[in-house]
Amino acid sequence: MTRKFLFVLGSARPEGNSEILARKAAEQLPSDVEQRWLNLADLPLPDFEDRRHDDSRPRARPRPVGDNEAELLDATLEATDIVIVSPLYWYSLSATVKRYLDYWDAWLETPEVAFQDTLKGRTLWGVTALAHREEEVAEPLIGTLRNTAAFFPMHFGGVLLGNGTRPGHVLEDAEALARAKTFFAQEPPLARYPYDS
Ligand SMILES: Cc1cc2nc3c(=O)[nH]c(=O)nc-3n(C[C@H](O)[C@H](O)[C@H](O)COP(=O)(O)O)c2cc1C
Repeated sequence: MTRKFLFVLGSARPEGNSEILARKAAEQLPSDVEQRWLNLADLPLPDFEDRRHDDSRPRARPRPVGDNEAELLDATLEATDIVIVSPLYWYSLSATVKRYLDYWDAWLETPEVAFQDTLKGRTLWGVTALAHREEEVAEPLIGTLRNTAAFFPMHFGGVLLGNGTRPGHVLEDAEALARAKTFFAQEPPLARYPYDS
């Protein structure tokens, strides 16, 4: 199967450090690997509604058609590799990325797309810029993505971290740029919850 990488950009500013670092890593992908870049700022989603236990309407959701949710769902289903490109905001994912992941729950309630079966065995990756130099402060973000991958289960490639505050600053993080060169060359294992390892 041809690999198709979906880059989901979740910064609250354009061309920020997370995107710059993700583009550095993506430069290394072979030319036969498809790349699709979607910026969540261009595809806003409404507030997520949890309808699972509302007895006044059916639990199963219809497949969205013709809107931002539909575009994101279709892109997610088509991708062999999903790359979450989120800055570190309060030690975790940005709000737009978190909302996109909340919609994964809606799609689990959309029988016709078989969301869990489709994502099972695919690969989740993360790319994150942060102002802190001590990278362990990003553990909540890393744990969120790892556990999300373990749910399906998907393979988890880990999170490529880079230091930066102003846009472009990450280009001064030589270690991050070196890690970017080989980041997508890994063959990541299936994700496991911490209690399974
Ligand atoms: C709302 C907000 C929250 C932030 N929280 C953190 C944080 O918890 N830890 C950190 O190291 N940097 C934090 N930062 C700094 C950003 O992670 C940093 O500027 C990063 O380079 C932004 O990435 P971007 O250019 O891709 O948007 C925060 C910035 C904003 C705007």
